[in-house]
Amino acid sequence: MAPPLTALLLPALAALLPVPAAARAPPRSIAVVGAGLGGSSVAYFLQQHFGPQVQLDVYEQGGVGGRLATVTVNKQQYESRAASIHALSLHMQDFVKTLGLRQRREVPGKSAVFSGEHFVLEETDWYLLNLFRLWWHYGISFLRLQMWVEEVMEKFMRIYKYQAHGYAFSSLEELLRSLGGEAFINMTQRSVAEALLEVGVTQRFVDDVIAAVLRSSYGQSVLVPAFAGAMSLAGAQGSTWAVEGGNKLVCSGLLKLTKANVIHGRVTGVSLHSSEGRALYQVHYTSSEGQGSAFYDMVVVSTALHPSRSNFSFQNFEPPIDNFPGTFQPSVTSVVHGYLNSSYFGFPDPKLFPFASILTTDTPALFFNAMDNICPVNISAGFRRKQPQEAAVWRVLSQQPLDKQQLKTLFKSYYSVQVTEWPSHPRYDSTKSLPPIVLHENLFYLSGVEWVASSMEMIAVAAKNVALLAYNRWYQDLEKIDQKDLMHKVKTEL
Ligand SMILES: Cc1cc2nc3c(=O)[nH]c(=O)nc-3n(C[C@H](O)[C@H](O)[C@H](O)COP(=O)(O)OP(=O)(O)OC[C@H]3O[C@@H](n4cnc5c(N)ncnc54)[C@H](O)[C@@H]3O)c2cc1C
Ligand SMILES: *[C@@H]1O[C@H](CO)[C@@H](O)[C@H](O)[C@H]1NC(C)=O
Ligand SMILES: *[C@@H]1O[C@H](CO)[C@@H](O)[C@H](O)[C@H]1NC(C)=O
Ligand SMILES: *[C@@H]1O[C@H](CO)[C@@H](O)[C@H](O)[C@H]1NC(C)=O
Ligand SMILES: *[C@@H]1O[C@H](CO)[C@@H](O)[C@H](O)[C@H]1NC(C)=O
Repeated sequence: MAPPLTALLLPALAALLPVPAAARAPPRSIAVVGAGLGGSSVAYFLQQHFGPQVQLDVYEQGGVGGRLATVTVNKQQYESRAASIHALSLHMQDFVKTLGLRQRREVPGKSAVFSGEHFVLEETDWYLLNLFRLWWHYGISFLRLQMWVEEVMEKFMRIYKYQAHGYAFSSLEELLRSLGGEAFINMTQRSVAEALLEVGVTQRFVDDVIAAVLRSSYGQSVLVPAFAGAMSLAGAQGSTWAVEGGNKLVCSGLLKLTKANVIHGRVTGVSLHSSEGRALYQVHYTSSEGQGSAFYDMVVVSTALHPSRSNFSFQNFEPPIDNFPGTFQPSVTSVVHGYLNSSYFGFPDPKLFPFASILTTDTPALFFNAMDNICPVNISAGFRRKQPQEAAVWRVLSQQPLDKQQLKTLFKSYYSVQVTEWPSHPRYDSTKSLPPIVLHENLFYLSGVEWVASSMEMIAVAAKNVALLAYNRWYQDLEKIDQKDLMHKVKTEL
């Protein structure tokens, strides 16, 4: 028998009813600390939800964009840090569209995995042959890996649906649980190697292929947690893109669009006050004009709360808020303009060197993690990659700065080297606990999501979550926070 009509209509109607506590005025002012992708996108999402009348101040001690940055070589700009975006990054796609920017096409180039002595794996021209080779080398491991990554990504993509319906999560654990159950929580606790061996991927495949991908993305070993590993393997498998003109244009664009007030200064602390029974946050900062402070109804911290990264103190909070456990991985990016020493890679004739991207296995003798022949952030229709015997721009990732000898090993000669040193990614083996999102009533911590996985899209997803969470908490819409069984709920909602 068919259910009565009211049973079908009621949930639909309920979704249309106004939020009961909506009479409350929006926050007067919100501070965001950090103008990287996290800070810029949370400013944008906060304004989308609370409306344009809210005053938004964004504090930044360095350049807008943070870890999205470019260097100039020969009058052209190149991505010096975060370079590539996975095809399924829906928030990043939205930003690019909203801002009238364009995706930069990928310039084809082959990759290979180098062991310090020879190439253990080479990509060839023909995709099928490529697959065949992997099959030949590694048996069914390659397919098992693909299925495993696809399953994780499929579950992860549920977040977009939840967010479109206004649902938010008050902790990283709740967010992960709603997407993939306890298995996703488990994936933040155990290593990617362990998880893959369990689904039948061979040790040899883990050592040759998985290790190489993780060294190039996180500069770490196959001991990174399975979830972070899956995200970086997804990036390595599918096609990727970048923003024409530089990924950092997304940050400056979003801040301009929201008309956020960017304050160039270093935030030194946040202290708690109260006014009319409500929390009021005082943000203290130092800038070229000296020290200053301002009061806010709400604060989002979008930089890592770790002593090595920001110098932050929280005052008057009970219980006190401290730095969180865990350390960061030092990482060095050297952008080198020069002639590759193809002999070092076993190609005495440079004309025959076929690779644009060199990954490496976990070998103590190797002094670099990966190197790429990179293209400028703006490329014309007729653009082609440099021939291997020509001078080209290479981006070399390493743990330690490269010394002269090491540069002379990789390059026959070079015109310039630009080095960026940065504690770039969480050291995933330094702690197993995930940091909180809610630090106090209307004080939120965005950057903790990097301990789940560190990528541009992950930060954007977390920024949308923080904005929704802040909004739902402000208007007491508790139905939209930490709801269980969301897969079912979003199906029955309009
Ligand atoms: C070498 C490298 C390669 C990467 N490759 C990729 C990639 O290919 N694809 C991808 O998706 N991701 C990649 N990532 C990760 C990606 O860069 C980050 O996940 C993302 O940029 C983080 O953005 P964020 O806003 O959280 O942090 P950040 O960009 O670090 O922003 C934090 C900002 O806060 C500011 N700040 C800090 N303390 C204070 C203070 N006290 N007061 C005021 N301002 C402060 C900082 O100056 C900074 O601008 C890579 C990262 C690195 C380092
Ligand atoms: C989580 O991991 C533990 C051991 O690490 C295992 O016993 C348990 O079955 C796992 N749970 C899920 C849901 O995968
Ligand atoms: C590079 O691309 C950006 C974004 O499309 C554009 O604004 C800029 O003018 C371009 N610069 C050059 C030198 O072509
Ligand atoms: C933190 O502050 C101390 C002194 O106030 C300073 O010596 C240190 O360099 C700062 N660290 C960072 C990462 O800014
Ligand atoms: C290039 O690599 C070869 C082989 O490793 C090495 O002998 C040589 O010193 C390197 N440097 C130059 C500048 O050729």
